[in-house]
Amino acid sequence: MDLHRYLQTALEAAFLAQGIHQYYQAKGFTQSSKSTPTDLVTQADQETEAAIRELITSRFPDHVVLGEEQGQDREGAFRWIVDPLDGTVNYAHGFPFYAVSIGLEAQGEVVLGVVLDTARGDLFTATKGGGAYLNGRPIRVSERRELLGSLLATGFSYDVHKDPENVTYFQRALAKGLMVRRPGAAALDLAYVAAGRLDGFWEVKLNPWDVAAGWRILLEAGGQVTGLEGEAYRLGQRYLVATNGLIHQELLDTLHGR
Ligand code: IPD
Ligand code: CA
Ligand code: CA
Ligand code: CA
Repeated sequence: MDLHRYLQTALEAAFLAQGIHQYYQAKGFTQSSKSTPTDLVTQADQETEAAIRELITSRFPDHVVLGEEQGQDREGAFRWIVDPLDGTVNYAHGFPFYAVSIGLEAQGEVVLGVVLDTARGDLFTATKGGGAYLNGRPIRVSERRELLGSLLATGFSYDVHKDPENVTYFQRALAKGLMVRRPGAAALDLAYVAAGRLDGFWEVKLNPWDVAAGWRILLEAGGQVTGLEGEAYRLGQRYLVATNGLIHQELLDTLHGR
């Protein structure tokens, strides 16, 4: 498998995305809503996905793309999992915490991840077995061992008002006096745990495109990603808990109300 060539393509796609994000951020953009009034999609989301698809399929015609805005139309051994703009609500408000997220799955395993913060320019990359990097420098998860004093993040799905399970988890964390942020871009939340900027992150109902790239980056940085019972994580499952590994059990206990 030519991981190096795939990584080069992922990087090209990420910088292409950055150009589009910045263009519309400066020029203004149209927007509409999808599943709920707060579930926004902008011209930047749509054009970015179209551009990334075109690049990937022109390079690798037999590869499949799963993207948030256009879905996936066939099966294949190589699948690119793309969130063209993670943090759309932030983007639409000019709150500079959003990214493009590009993962590559080969035979069912994510082998490469690129997350680019297109406002700030932070570039997180990883390939399976090759370590994780921020702007070309190796990164590792934090060494914090206790949950109290850790900096945590979570996020809420657009239908949280109808499915408020994570509100309960959020309350349990706050009731213990923990420090929790809601930055608003899951791919960056995962990358921040990888870089030791956060110690842990959890969310309910993330989609594969939110997670694929950041998951690989976090694993390569020495982190741990599981479901709510501590079981191995699988893309598309309801619960994701991601930490530096050292506070993992304590975070699981907290979410469970223990
Ligand atoms: C959303 C963001 C947000 C998370 C939501 C996601 P989008 O992705 O990652 O942080 O809480 O669950 O849907 O819609 O901005 O790509
Ligand atoms: Ca997303
Ligand atoms: Ca998105
Ligand atoms: Ca979205």
